[in-house]
Amino acid sequence: MKVDVILGLQWGDEGKGKIVDVMTPQYDIIARFQGGPNAGHTIEFKNRKYVLHTIPSGIFYPKKTNLVGNGVILDPFIFRKEIINLAEYGIDATSNLLVSKKAHLITPTHRLLDAAYEALKGESRIGSTLKGIGPTYTDKVARIGLRVGDILRDDFRVMYFNLRENHLRLMQFMEFNADSFLIDDIPFNRYEEQWLDAVDYMKTLKLVDAEYFLHRSLAAGKRVLAEGAQGTMLDVDFGSYPFVTSSNTSIGGVCSGLGINPGNIGEVTGVFKAYCTRVGSGPFPTEQFGDQGDKMRERGHEYGSTTGRPRRCGWLDLVALKYAIMINGVTRLFMMKTDVLDDFSRILIGNGYMTGKGKTGDVPFDFLQEDIKVIYKELRGWETSLKGLKSKDEMPVVLQEYVDFIEKETGIPVMGVSFGPDRTQTLIF
Ligand code: GDP
Ligand code: IMO
Ligand code: MG
Repeated sequence: MKVDVILGLQWGDEGKGKIVDVMTPQYDIIARFQGGPNAGHTIEFKNRKYVLHTIPSGIFYPKKTNLVGNGVILDPFIFRKEIINLAEYGIDATSNLLVSKKAHLITPTHRLLDAAYEALKGESRIGSTLKGIGPTYTDKVARIGLRVGDILRDDFRVMYFNLRENHLRLMQFMEFNADSFLIDDIPFNRYEEQWLDAVDYMKTLKLVDAEYFLHRSLAAGKRVLAEGAQGTMLDVDFGSYPFVTSSNTSIGGVCSGLGINPGNIGEVTGVFKAYCTRVGSGPFPTEQFGDQGDKMRERGHEYGSTTGRPRRCGWLDLVALKYAIMINGVTRLFMMKTDVLDDFSRILIGNGYMTGKGKTGDVPFDFLQEDIKVIYKELRGWETSLKGLKSKDEMPVVLQEYVDFIEKETGIPVMGVSFGPDRTQTLIF
């Protein structure tokens, strides 16, 4: 068996969580391969809305196994909270949840360091979610990080306090006043106590050698779906660096974040919004600052699932989308939030950039420095409510034209459209 993949093609929040949930019945195992609680994946059904940060989006199907891979970084405090929140809705997240022993731990001082680095950057700050992502991946690569499997060691606390000490020294050097900083509204010392408590709680979970588990499951004919976080334009290598996250959000992250070899990758489903959003700083060529952007934000409720920040909104950017398709080897596309454009009489699609060096269909090396003018193609809007759409035949002809245009431009089939946050508001062709 091969591992199918669902990943984001834009700047995150494309609706990956919803599509993973919709596709889960076809799989046995859902595995997150990178990122951490900077992610916020929303799933809605039966008039309830759930936001997951670290737990894979297959968790609402009790018979499916959900795996947190080695490429993920995990904050025990946030992880435990997520499990408790789900339990309050009667969802037992723990029986079928496996965590790789090789996943790295986000510690309280990683979160302080995240804030310290952002403070140091001043005006050029990334707009990090302040979940400790950058510092934790930094320590992983620097070979000083703590892994989930380490919590089982007798000397774990010694390891933890050594790392903590290093971090505090670093912050002193950076002249960052850690004492006055609250983590999730909690003073550091109290947060740390609860974090250590959550580490003990983690010991009760199923901590596994995930790469063996996955290989043996595949050999036994199990179907595996890999769930990405963030989006390709936030990839540390291929995104709009330095305004990116600190992991490989693109296809390579599946191999390194789960221990899957490239030959074992099956279908790659690329999820994108019918328009485009970005939260945090950094280039966004098709961004709309006026009425059009405001209308997208309001109709699409474009406020961050993790931080509540308003998302920047703009038209679909085919230059960036084609780039993401190329990097990931996308085999099929899923278009999300189509209903948000229901009211627009004209819809623009960015289909080329005009830079100082002329017209291009490629994403420039440093598109922050480049003075980019987007070349747009104008299409008609369908100006019909998509609510209650039941089949492809009922799809407005003008929406079909929009889909056809994207398929023709990208050369990749659109396998479905989503027209509302609920599970049922999905059409798979
Ligand atoms: P993810 O991070 O890629 O999983 O996406 P998020 O959950 O952060 O953001 C997507 C938001 O759009 C969530 O609030 C979803 O409930 C919502 N959503 C998903 N698909 C649709 C859709 O087709 N239409 C509308 N209106 N909302 C949607
Ligand atoms: P999901 O999985 C949207 C953005 C942040 C910031 C930059 C770096 O829900 O799509 P970080 O905390 O990783 O250091 O922040 O990346 N970012 C996201 N934007 N969706 C996400 O995840 C994101 N995760 C990080 O806003 O600009
Ligand atoms: Mg999100």
